[in-house]
Amino acid sequence: MSTTPTRQQVLVFRELPPDQLARLQAQHDVTVANPRLLEQLPAFRAALATADGLIGSSYKVDAALLACAPQLKVISSVSVGVDNYDLQALAARGIMLCHTPGVLTETTADTVFSLIMATSRRLVELANWVREGHWTSNIGEDLFGWDVHGKTLGILGFGRIGQAVARRGALGFGMPVLYHSRRPVDLAKDAPELAGKASHTPLDELLQRADIVVAMLPLSNETRGLMGAREFGLMKPGAIFVNGGRGATVQETALLHALNHGTLRAAGLDVFATEPLPMDSPLRTHPKVTALPHIGSATFETRHAMAVLATSNLLQVLAGETPQAVFELPPG
Ligand code: DGY
Repeated sequence: MSTTPTRQQVLVFRELPPDQLARLQAQHDVTVANPRLLEQLPAFRAALATADGLIGSSYKVDAALLACAPQLKVISSVSVGVDNYDLQALAARGIMLCHTPGVLTETTADTVFSLIMATSRRLVELANWVREGHWTSNIGEDLFGWDVHGKTLGILGFGRIGQAVARRGALGFGMPVLYHSRRPVDLAKDAPELAGKASHTPLDELLQRADIVVAMLPLSNETRGLMGAREFGLMKPGAIFVNGGRGATVQETALLHALNHGTLRAAGLDVFATEPLPMDSPLRTHPKVTALPHIGSATFETRHAMAVLATSNLLQVLAGETPQAVFELPPG
């Protein structure tokens, strides 16, 4: 005799595409409430009290919030990064955390590479210059950029996205790649196209040798504030710094100091310690900074693919199945 699966309580805390919301609604009782909007906060809190599953992103889920969700079994994050979640508290409660690795790799690497191009070739600055009507004669050397092809690319963090950035640099732009990660990657086995083109390098040496340093680090106790005054001071004169990982891996005052008083040429930043970037942050309008509003994965195709994976993860856990992409929590 077949039994109808029990409908469970799902709280969507960041908008989902209609087709994915419909998948959830077909099987469960769904509340959509965005806690960032004051008028939706009461509905969010009420739904939390009975929620079996949460799905969303870009919102801090700490132990205090979890205490208001006594029935919670699973959180499905529509992101690959999990720094918004209190991992210890989740582990202690036995709540499963799912995320969206893989589907955003190539798009995020595209964004990072566009920051490399924008900072080196001064694309935003020069496009604004044209827009403002300054193009009345041929440009002079004062507006020239710097080559990207053939430059040494240093990558901090060599997970999926770091490797995708490396492929673009090494295979598309003939760039020797240095990377720093906890352990060397077995390139012959796991990334054969990079074998002989990328070398595992100690952090200080990478900073001293790379023309363009790209940070693709997740945020953890080990990586928080990793790029500080000492590290920026080690970078080559005229080098460029790009951050496509997490803002808080960089000490922003040290970055500003390196841009204002050191020899750093430019910075391309998609992520910041506080997001949205505060209006009074000097990084917002700094002439050497190209700042983006955390758009690493923000294309129609990729955001949809992330929503599909996150929805599948949630439905699988609620059905008692193993989800496609679970994040391994520390021992509870
Ligand atoms: C991610 O998926 O972690 C991206 O940074 C978007 O938050």
